[in-house]
Amino acid sequence: MADQFTWTLQYSVHLEEIDEQHKRFFQLINAVYDLLLKKVIEPEALLIVITHLGDYAYYHFATEEGYFKIFQYKNTDAHTQEHDVFRAKAREFLERARRLKGTDPHPLVLEIADFAKEWMEHHILVEDKKYMPLFKARGVR
Ligand SMILES: [Fe+2]
Repeated sequence: MADQFTWTLQYSVHLEEIDEQHKRFFQLINAVYDLLLKKVIEPEALLIVITHLGDYAYYHFATEEGYFKIFQYKNTDAHTQEHDVFRAKAREFLERARRLKGTDPHPLVLEIADFAKEWMEHHILVEDKKYMPLFKARGVR
């Protein structure tokens, strides 16, 4: 799909653990775009892809929020609120995918992929970059 999401150095927060998680996140978003290449999207395939994306988001956000707590990061509330927006959307998308019942999933799949990509792009470049100096100073590699 034209909109495949490529991890490039501009997205790096120069912390290996976080960069690796972000790369995995990109792959899972691309798996949503990949569904759009199919003429027929099987409901089970859609549920699996959305569940993986949502589960990974919870896991990745928990990693960051764990560090925020340990380091008493001053921007925790604003940052966590952005995570909350994504977590809520992930739940909403899963609900909507479950209720499709025979209607064409393509519009929903495109909405999910574009939402996730745009959210992630902004979130890394703006919010995640802000914790970079603190995490580095506290010894995260
Ligand atoms: Fe984050």
